Amino acid sequence: MSRTRSIVLSFTALSAVYLYAFPSATIPYLALVLGHVVAGFVLAALLIPTLIRVRSAGWILVAAGAGLGILLTLTGASRPFSPLLYAHIGTSVLGVVILLSTGMRRPVVGFAALFAAVLALGGSAWAVREVRWRSTHRIENPDMPPASQAQEGDGVNGSFFPSSAQTSNGTTIPAKFFMESQACQRCHPDIYEQWSSSAHKFSSFNNQWYRKSIEYMQDVVGVRPSKWCAGCHDPALLFSGMFDTPVRELIDKPEAHAGLGCVMCHSVATVKSTMGQGDYTVEYPALAQLAASPNKVVQALHDFRGERE
Ligand code: HEC
Ligand code: HEC
Ligand code: HEC
Repeated sequence: MSRTRSIVLSFTALSAVYLYAFPSATIPYLALVLGHVVAGFVLAALLIPTLIRVRSAGWILVAAGAGLGILLTLTGASRPFSPLLYAHIGTSVLGVVILLSTGMRRPVVGFAALFAAVLALGGSAWAVREVRWRSTHRIENPDMPPASQAQEGDGVNGSFFPSSAQTSNGTTIPAKFFMESQACQRCHPDIYEQWSSSAHKFSSFNNQWYRKSIEYMQDVVGVRPSKWCAGCHDPALLFSGMFDTPVRELIDKPEAHAGLGCVMCHSVATVKSTMGQGDYTVEYPALAQLAASPNKVVQALHDFRGERE
C-alpha cells in the first residue's frame, strides 16, 4: 500500500516538474497533464486511510495539496486561478520535503538540505521556462536590411515569394486552419464580436478596394508579385497555395473572403524583423486541430485545460 503510494507520489512530483518547466502546445504535453491529474486522484484515494490515522504532517500536506489539485480540476488553471495553482504546488512540495526528511537520521538537517535542493530545482525550472521563452521570442533585426527581395523569407524559389512570410516546417497549411475563428468564439465571445466587424476581418477579397487593387495588379504584372500583398492580407489563400491561381477565378470561394482570422496572428511563432514586410513564421500546431475538432470527446479533452464559464 505505502509502496504504491510512494510510486504514485513520485510520478505526480516528476510530472509536475516537467509540466512546469517545459510547457508546450503538444499532444504529449496534454497527455501528461491528464496523467498528472489521474495520478493525483489515485493518490488522494490512497491517502484517505492515512488521514483517518493522522500521523505524519508530510502526508497531511500532500493530502491538502491533492485536495487543492482536485479543486483545480473544477476551476481550471487559468490566470484568475493562479493563486490556487501556486497554493497546490507549494503545499504539495512542502509535504514531499517533510515526508522525505522525516525518514532521515537527522530530520532538521535533511529538511534544510532538501528545501535548498527544491529551491535550486524550482529556480532551474523557472529559468528553463521563462528565460528560454524570453530569449527565443525576442525580435532581433539584422544589422542591415537584405540587399534584394531574393534574400528575404524562403528566397526566390520559396512557395510564398515575394512575401517574406514562412511556415515553421516549410510546407503549406490548409486554408481551413485560418478560417475557424468561430472555434474561438465559444470562449472569447466579446473579442470575436469586435473582430467580426474589424478591418482584420475585411482584409482580403471581402474588401472591394483590396480586391480591385489585386485584380489590377495581376492584370498588369501577373500573379506572382501580388503574393507579396497576400503575406499580410490573405493568409488562407497564400499559405494553402491557392494564391497561385488568379484571383478572378477564386473570387467566389470562401477562402478568398477569410480575412485575417484569429489563428493568423495567434499562430505567428516568430517575428524575424520589424522591417514591416510580413517577416514572420507561422506555425500549424497539432493542438490547434484539436480546438477546432467537431468531435465532442476531443473537444471535451481540449476544454479540460481551458475555460468553464
Ligand atoms: C475552451 C475555451 C477556449 C477556447 C475555445 C479558446 N480559448 Fe483562448 N483562452 C481561454 C482561456 C481560459 C484563457 C485564459 C488563460 C489564462 O488566463 O491563463 C485564454 C487565453 C487566450 C489568449 C491569451 C493568452 C495569454 O498568454 O495571455 C489568447 C491569445 C487566446 N486565448 C486566443 C485564442 C484563440 C485564437 C482561440 C481560437 C483558436 C482560442 N483562444 C480559443 C479559453 C479558450
Ligand atoms: C506588411 C503588410 C502589408 C502588405 C505586404 C500589404 N498590405 Fe495592404 N494593408 C496593410 C495594413 C496594415 C493596412 C491597413 C492600413 C490602415 O488602415 O491604416 C492595409 C490596407 C490596404 C488597403 C486599404 C483597405 C481599406 O479597406 O482601407 C488596400 C487597398 C491594400 N492594403 C492593398 C494592398 C496591396 C494591393 C498590397 C500589395 C501591393 C498590399 N496591400 C500589401 C498591410 C499590408
Ligand atoms: C491582426 C492580428 C490579430 C488578430 C486577427 C487577432 N488577434 Fe488576438 N491579439 C493580437 C495581439 C497582437 C494581442 C496581444 C495584445 C497585447 O498584448 O496587448 C492579442 C491578444 C489577444 C488575447 C489576450 C487578450 C488579453 O486581454 O490579454 C486574446 C484572448 C485574443 N487576442 C483572442 C483573439 C481572438 C479570439 C481573435 C479572433 C476573433 C483574435 N484574437 C484575433 C493579435 C490578433
